[in-house]
Amino acid sequence: MCGIIGYVGKKQAIPVLIAGLEKLEYRGYDSSGVGIINPQTGRIVVHKTQGKIRKLKEILSHHTLPNATLGISHTRWATHGIPNHVNAHPHFDGSKKILLVHNGIIENYQELKHELRRRGHRFLSDTDTEVIAHVIQDHYDGDLFKAVQKAVGVLQGSFALGVICTDHPDTLVAARIGSPLIIGVGNKENFIASDVPAILDATDRVIYLKDNEIAVLTADQVRVFDFKGRKVKPIIHKITFNVDAVQKHGFSHFMLKEIHEQPWVMEHMLKTCLKKDQVVLSGLGLKVRELKNIRNITVVACGTAYHAGMVGRYLIEKLTRIPVSIDVSSEFRYRDPILDKRNLIVTISQSGETADTLAAVREARSKGAKVVSICNVLGSSLTRESDGVLYTHAGPEIGVASTKAYTAQIAMMTLLALYLGTVRKSIALKERKALIRELRKIPDLFQQVLKDKQKIAKIAKQNSHFGCFLFLGRNINFPTALEGALKLKEISYIPAEGYAAGEMKHGPIALIDEYRAVVCVAPQSDVYEKMISNMQEIRARKGKIIAVATRGDRAIRHHAHSVMYIPVVHPLFSPLVAALPLQLFAYHVAVQLGCDVDQPRNLAKSVTVE
Ligand code: AGP
Repeated sequence: MCGIIGYVGKKQAIPVLIAGLEKLEYRGYDSSGVGIINPQTGRIVVHKTQGKIRKLKEILSHHTLPNATLGISHTRWATHGIPNHVNAHPHFDGSKKILLVHNGIIENYQELKHELRRRGHRFLSDTDTEVIAHVIQDHYDGDLFKAVQKAVGVLQGSFALGVICTDHPDTLVAARIGSPLIIGVGNKENFIASDVPAILDATDRVIYLKDNEIAVLTADQVRVFDFKGRKVKPIIHKITFNVDAVQKHGFSHFMLKEIHEQPWVMEHMLKTCLKKDQVVLSGLGLKVRELKNIRNITVVACGTAYHAGMVGRYLIEKLTRIPVSIDVSSEFRYRDPILDKRNLIVTISQSGETADTLAAVREARSKGAKVVSICNVLGSSLTRESDGVLYTHAGPEIGVASTKAYTAQIAMMTLLALYLGTVRKSIALKERKALIRELRKIPDLFQQVLKDKQKIAKIAKQNSHFGCFLFLGRNINFPTALEGALKLKEISYIPAEGYAAGEMKHGPIALIDEYRAVVCVAPQSDVYEKMISNMQEIRARKGKIIAVATRGDRAIRHHAHSVMYIPVVHPLFSPLVAALPLQLFAYHVAVQLGCDVDQPRNLAKSVTVE
């Protein structure tokens, strides 16, 4: 997944493009580039480089930049062609008149390239993107809109495009299928971008370009058409969060800032979804009759969202007695699942753009199942392809390692379980009231954990030398162990595996010796004693134990070498609170090792390609 931005207006384009691009760097950061039309020469000027945007800025600082007011720019997460100067975007056509940036994957680019080569086109890069520029050239007869319209007609795959041409020095053309693209509507200036943060400095009015739509932008006008050339009346949305939301506010990393935002996110969600002892889920999109008619639920998601789904499964089964299965999206979409209209599919995605999850939704709907999505990004593709959407409203999540979205997703699954339990009368009013009382305590419990952040940082530093970690949990905290391991490995690159503690004796215990650290998620619960026996087995084999335990639990100190305490919390809600010490632990280990916490290698904020 990449980040693209385009500008047409009265200002000098390059500073606007680079400032916006920096706000998209979480989408991919292995190479970047910018292209403008020089108003003096009428020719296109391109600067691109391997590496982060700061390297591109460095290069630009050595050039006298023409006062161009039209340009496109790109930050890359390589799919076709290694991250290097040649494969970086933007890419030219053969005539050097047309230039474009692209986010997505063209599946038939090899055939197109072969055919174009046969007709004399020459290619400089290994990318699928450069082929698009040559396909547009192939259809170009002076009308850029028409050429792009014909080109998108032969492309297969996913794409968000930004195209400029020397013959039209005041026009920016954009098109999309599958990959996100927004239009920022300004005052005598207009933008295209992969995501809202890139244009928030200039405007809070955006158009979410839909699949199979093309837009033609000039400084004074935005026109939208479908791929058949029919005019479309776009809806302009007003963005509710401001540029502040995408600043670090004095935190050294977005991840740390977002960890600290969780009490506010939780407070806000409970305020929105709890009316006295009632759960109110606006946007669920299903009638009470349909909810009563559900035979079983399948949760589908990827990565951290999948772990939130696993916690949700325990809660929904516990509070509604509806059987819940869970699948990673990339497996669900190809396993030909047995579904019908009495199946409810709950998909979870922070970005709402994860390709595998989108494909899973299409698979489920093609089989008549209803789809409710838990999502954090307004207007994202997933929200447009679901029967109902439960927004987590956690605000923009910039750090690639998901934190606040994770606990918000678990909280939304909890509210969904309580709501379904109420509608289906599987939970007594007394029990619901008691659980809602416990849920209302969570924001404060988060605050209490954050107060201990220095202690957690110290434990992290003391244990950051270990070359391999195992994370263990049981029952509703088995997914917590999986998530703890994912957080550590994705930002510190230390091999870490999450495991159901009961599985230890069936293999992983072979890993245990004095060079291994084991994080045991062991808050007070009805499986606590089982966790203690696991810890004794590990200790007997000289393994180093770091426990997550309930404040006041002094006994655990006999088993663990270090303890990260969490306040007393209802066992059903312990995964919410236990997540925070694990997020902080991973964060401080990564910082200790000098890793790029917000932009870990090889990762991207959401994976819009399969
Ligand atoms: C989590 O820290 C990772 N960024 C990744 O596993 C992520 O959860 C996964 O790619 C799913 O993304 P989504 O929630 O945007 O669909």
